[in-house]
This record gives sequence, structure tokens and C-alpha cells, in this order.
Amino acid sequence: MAGPPSVSTLMLRNVPLFSMLPDEQLSLLARAAGRKSFPHNTTVISAGDPSNALYLVVSGRLKVMMSDEEGREVILAILSAGEYFGEMSLIDDAPRSATVTAIEPCELVIISKAEFKKCLAENSEISEAVMKVLVKRLREADNKIGSLALMDVFGRVARLLMEMAETVDGQKVITKRLAKQDIAKMVGASRETVSRVMKHLQSSGYIEVRSGMIYLHAGMLISEAKA
Ligand code: CMP
Repeated sequence: MAGPPSVSTLMLRNVPLFSMLPDEQLSLLARAAGRKSFPHNTTVISAGDPSNALYLVVSGRLKVMMSDEEGREVILAILSAGEYFGEMSLIDDAPRSATVTAIEPCELVIISKAEFKKCLAENSEISEAVMKVLVKRLREADNKIGSLALMDVFGRVARLLMEMAETVDGQKVITKRLAKQDIAKMVGASRETVSRVMKHLQSSGYIEVRSGMIYLHAGMLISEAKA
């Protein structure tokens, strides 16, 4: 019978966090790591759980979220290939801070708490890289708190679209599909309000939706630059 799927050195090399490790160390880590597939809609970790591992995203996307007893959700972030999660509670030994659920079929590499801690202790570059990602997430969370307190839904949706856009052939475009429901959960508004705002952005020429992609036009970029 075949054993569990193995982790290649290349798989780890493609995750920016580990890309600077020398080959020898990377192959030791690859041997200690595991690999697992998660179907769409599976929860990988739940808020409040004890921590035991770090997860690297090889393929697919996941949402980081919080929910209440009534099933209301807020999405804190969307993670994709090359990113990782689960580091927070490995660092402070507190329970998992959020729930992480696959929004597409995902392939993840799993590194045990002990291996990750060893890696941090032995490589100051890795510790620094983890700190940089924590700081980036804190900055994003600060921006989100700022826009929740200071902006209306229109501004929050516009800002989110700007943050999610990539530059393709000189044009700002969101290439990954995102349900209106998920946008609503990211900006703290209802799906209906988000639909209305998106329609308004479209009819005013700020955005254009073509083949499932959202193109951001100049007016939108100017209003963001002024904000
Ligand atoms: P941990 O607390 O171990 O488990 C939940 C994980 O979700 C957490 O580690 C982080 O990796 C991730 N996470 C929590 N909050 C955010 C956020 N605001 N942005 C991105 N990722 C987050």
C-alpha cells in the first residue's frame, strides 16, 4: 500500500518563507513534513482549538474567518498558494485565533509545531520573515479597523477591490473569482448592499466585469489615491 504523499524540496522552495533555506536544511524539513488534500468547504483548523502544526498552501485558496453562534461570519483574509497559516498559536501557545476553511480544493503541507519551532530557533532569517508577515497582517487589520470605523460601505468595497487587484498588462484586475457573499463578509455589510454598491460602481464606469474578472478603471484608482 502507498504511504502518505511525500513533500518535495521544491514544494517548500516555492513558499517564500522557506525559500532562503539551504538545500540540506530544506530536505530535512521536507522529510519531516506531511502533505494533505482538503476538498472545497472543509475546515482545516477551528478557532479555539489547541495548536499543533503550521500549514503551507501549495495550491487552492482558503478563507480565514470568525463566526458567532448564529452562524454570522466575518472573513479576515483569503490565503492562496505560497502563503501559510497557523503560526500565531505556535508562537504564543494560545488556542487558534480563527477558523480556516478551504474555498477551493486545497493541497497543504503540514509542519509540526516542534519542527517549526526548531526552524525558527535555528534560522534568524525565518524568524524575521515570520515577523514581517505578522506585521503585514497587523497593518492590514489596522486598515480594516480604520475603514470599518471611518468609511461607508461604498468606500469599503472600493478599498477591498483595490487591495485584491493585481496588475496585468498595465491594468488593475481581480483575476480570482469571489462571491458577493464573501465580499460582504469581508467588509461587514449585507450581500444585498454589496450587490447594490457593485452595480453602482459598474454603471458609473469605475469597474467592469468580464469573463468572471473585475477590471478597475482610472476613476477608481484616482479616488483611492485621494483617500
Ligand atoms: P492561528 O491562530 O494559529 O490559527 C488561525 C490562523 O489564521 C492564525 O494562526 C493565522 O495564521 C491566520 N490569521 C489569523 N488572523 C489573520 C489575519 N487577520 N490575516 C491573515 N491570517 C490570519
